[in-house]
Amino acid sequence: MRGSLLDHLACPSCGGRLAIVGSAAAEVVEGALACASCGASYPVVHGIPRFPTTADATLASVTARTQRTYSFTWMTFAEDQREKDSYRYTALIPPTLTSGAGKIGLDAGCGGGHDLRRMAAGGAEVIGFDLSDGVETAHRLTRHLPNVHVVQGDLNTPPFRPESFDFVYSFGVLHHLPDPTRGFRNLAHLLKPGGSLITYLYDDFGDRTAAERAALDAVRLGRRVTSRLPSPALYALCWLAAPVVWATCSVPASLLELVAPRLAGRIPFRHTVRWTVLASDLFDRFAPPVEWRFSREGVLALYRAAGLGDVTTCRYRGWVSWGCRPADVLVEDRA
Ligand SMILES: C[S@@+](CC[C@H](N)C(=O)[O-])C[C@H]1O[C@@H](n2cnc3c(N)ncnc32)[C@H](O)[C@@H]1O
Ligand SMILES: [Zn+2]
Repeated sequence: MRGSLLDHLACPSCGGRLAIVGSAAAEVVEGALACASCGASYPVVHGIPRFPTTADATLASVTARTQRTYSFTWMTFAEDQREKDSYRYTALIPPTLTSGAGKIGLDAGCGGGHDLRRMAAGGAEVIGFDLSDGVETAHRLTRHLPNVHVVQGDLNTPPFRPESFDFVYSFGVLHHLPDPTRGFRNLAHLLKPGGSLITYLYDDFGDRTAAERAALDAVRLGRRVTSRLPSPALYALCWLAAPVVWATCSVPASLLELVAPRLAGRIPFRHTVRWTVLASDLFDRFAPPVEWRFSREGVLALYRAAGLGDVTTCRYRGWVSWGCRPADVLVEDRA
């Protein structure tokens, strides 16, 4: 952890300033941070500051399960996840929002750190933040980059100074929070006036065909069981299912893509024919304890409720959206 990260951190308990305990070194690998206001102490392990998860009883149990699920994910198949088609998602976002020397951004829920590394190539200083042991993978991937920091903690109690980021990027994360509205507001609170919040959120299929909605309902029903299975057992089941999904979805979709691309676009798991990627994507679909879904209006309502304007929403396997904190509107206090 580089000392310059302290300019952006705040005690998640009282909001006070943090200082490195007993070290004047420019970089801390093992040590601790202490809060000047309340005296709380937070460890730095393997060069990563570690902050606790929420103590709020209504959120704590789901958050702990989510942490276990994604720790398994990023420690087991981070390399396979690299094949996901997030580049097509992120191609929709104007590059000026997340690039440029002198800007500071937050990748909130950075997972294994692939988007973090790519954003850093645009010149901005970027902090990767995640609940899970994905921070180890993200740190390994980016520790040679002078403009990247990695922090472990919980979006329900983010350890950052309010109004300190030019952009906050949160891809595929908020829909896994027990209270996504609260998580969204916490992120909006971190934006400087004029800063942008960029999100990807799942689609609720509200305007899809009855058959597509029935398929989603079946998946929801299945998730009630699968999200409670031990991660290694579920991952083994996903490997068994991968060839079936390959034969019934991925291969037909890639053939259909040649003659009827719009139709192919409605088939799930069309983005890859690799079994390793299919197994990891199936796990991502069936393991997380919580999965919220949104209509376009629901996404716009989240931005509005957080005081953000100029919202753009694009549909691509869900909603890729960005909105801006106006210079003259106060964002509500975080809950
Ligand atoms: C589907 S992954 C997305 C990872 C990455 N943004 C990407 O697009 O590849 C969701 C990530 O959100 C993180 N996450 C979930 N709940 C969180 C919370 N309360 N605080 C911080 N991160 C959280 C998980 O640990 C996981 O790495
Ligand atoms: Zn404090």
